[in-house]
Amino acid sequence: MDETAGIRMLVVEDDKALSEIVCEELRERGHMAVAAESVAEGLEQLKQSEFEVALVDLMLPDGSGIDILKKIAEEGLATEAIVLTGYATVDTAIQAMKLGAYDYVTKPARMEELEILVTKAAEKSRLRRENSHLRRRLEGQVPGDGIVTEDPAMRDLMATVERVAPSDLPVLIQGESGTGKELIARSLHRLSPRNVQPFVAINCGAVPDNLMESELFGHEKGAFTGALVRKPGLFEVADHGVLFLDEVGEISPLVQVKLLRAIETQEFFRVGGTRPVRTDVRLVSASNKNMKNEMQSGGFREDLYYRLNGVTLKLPPLRDRSADVPLLARHFVDRFASRKKLTPRALEALQRYSWPGNVRELQMLIHRAAILSPKEVIDAEDLPLDVRDQNWKGAPVRTGLSLAEMEKEYIETVLRENDGHRGKTARALGIDPKTLYNKLGPERPRKKFEAS
Ligand SMILES: Nc1ncnc2c1ncn2[C@@H]1O[C@H](COP(=O)(O)OP(=O)(O)OP(=O)(O)O)[C@@H](O)[C@H]1O
Ligand SMILES: [Mg+2]
Repeated sequence: MDETAGIRMLVVEDDKALSEIVCEELRERGHMAVAAESVAEGLEQLKQSEFEVALVDLMLPDGSGIDILKKIAEEGLATEAIVLTGYATVDTAIQAMKLGAYDYVTKPARMEELEILVTKAAEKSRLRRENSHLRRRLEGQVPGDGIVTEDPAMRDLMATVERVAPSDLPVLIQGESGTGKELIARSLHRLSPRNVQPFVAINCGAVPDNLMESELFGHEKGAFTGALVRKPGLFEVADHGVLFLDEVGEISPLVQVKLLRAIETQEFFRVGGTRPVRTDVRLVSASNKNMKNEMQSGGFREDLYYRLNGVTLKLPPLRDRSADVPLLARHFVDRFASRKKLTPRALEALQRYSWPGNVRELQMLIHRAAILSPKEVIDAEDLPLDVRDQNWKGAPVRTGLSLAEMEKEYIETVLRENDGHRGKTARALGIDPKTLYNKLGPERPRKKFEAS
C-alpha cells in the first residue's frame, strides 16, 4: 500500500455528533472512516475488516473501550489504537497505554493533532504488518499459516490453496461447521498478491435480508430512514482485497441477483445511488450446505453458483482425519495452557470421539479443560461426559455397525476385560445376569477370550 493511499480507520465513539465530524473530516482528507457506537459494534467491525487505526472512546454505553484494545492485542491485529478520553479518565488512559494503545488524546480533540497522530499510527501499523509477513516468510510458515494438519486430503487442499492463491479465481469452500473454512479463506488471502489489501468477511446468514444489500453495496445519505450518512459497502471496503462471503447459501434470491450483476459488470450502485461504483474484489465464499444441491434444488441461482465457484475446496470433517486429532489437541493445549500435558487416556478418548462440531469443538473443549483442570495434566476426567462415554475401555467405536452388532461387540469387550466372568460382566454393564445370558447364549469356554 503506498503512502498516499487512504488510511482505513475505525472510529468507536458514542457521541454521534463528534463521531460524524471526525469521520467526515477524515474522509475529506482521503481516508476511509467507519463509525461504531458501542463496544459490540466496534468488535463486530474489527471482525469484518482490517483497520490500520482505531480511534476508541473509553466510555461507551455497553462497556469500556479497553475491551476493544484487549481484542486487538489478543488477536494480534495490526491495528493501532488511539484512545479518546475526557480529563477525568487519565488513569484509564494510562491503563490503555499499558495495553498497547499507540497514544491517547483528551477531548475535545483538535483535528490537526488527531490527523498527525492517525498518520503516524497508520505508518506503524503498516510496518507491523509488513514485518509479520516477512517474519512468516522467513520462518517458512506462510503456506502453513497456523493450519495444523498431517492429513493427506488436507495437505492436498492446502497445495491447491497455494496454487490458486496468486490468481483471481473465485473460490468456494465447502465443509461442515467448524472444519476451518474461514481459516482457509484467510490463508488464501495471505498467500495472494492482495494480502496488503483488506480481507473483509461477512456472515450472510447473520445479516437480515433487508440490510444485506446496503451491507454489500453501501448506501447514500438519506437513502432510507436512518441513513444519516453515506456508508461504504463491503465491496468498497474490500476493494483490491478479498471479500469473504460466509454462509453464502443464505443469501436471498433478490440479493443473489444484485450480487451476480456486481460480479459480471464489476460495478454496482449504492442503495439510493445513481452513479455506478467500480469494484475489484476477489470473492471467496463458504458454506456448510452442499451448494451444488442448493443450486440443483433451485434455492441458489445457477449462474451465480458458477460465478462463485471457480474452484471448490472441500474440507474433510475431523472424524475423517483422526490423525489430526492428537496433533490439534496438543496444538490447542500449547496455546491455552502451555505447561499442561494430555494424558494418553485423554488422547485416546479424544481420538474415539466423533466430533460433530469439528475443530472448533475440539478447540473449545481443550480450552475448557485447560481452565478447569487443577492438575498439571489434562486427563480423561477433564473431558466432557459425551467424549468420555465413547471411551469404551479399549473398544474403538466403529461406524457402519448395526446397534445389535455394536452391542455384541461392546459386551464381548467388557467380557474380555473381566476374563470371561459373566457375573462381573453383568455388574459392569449394569444389567441382570439373566439378561446377559439371553444376549450371549450358553456359556462358551473361557479360552475364547484369552486369544485376543
Ligand atoms: N487445521 C486447523 N489448525 C488449527 N486451527 C484450526 C484448524 N481448523 C480450524 N481451526 C480453528 O477452529 C476454529 C473454527 O475454524 P473456522 O472458523 O475456520 O471454521 P468454519 O468452517 O468457518 O466454521 P463455521 O462453519 O462454523 O463458520 C477456529 O478457531 C480455527 O482457528
Ligand atoms: Mg466460519
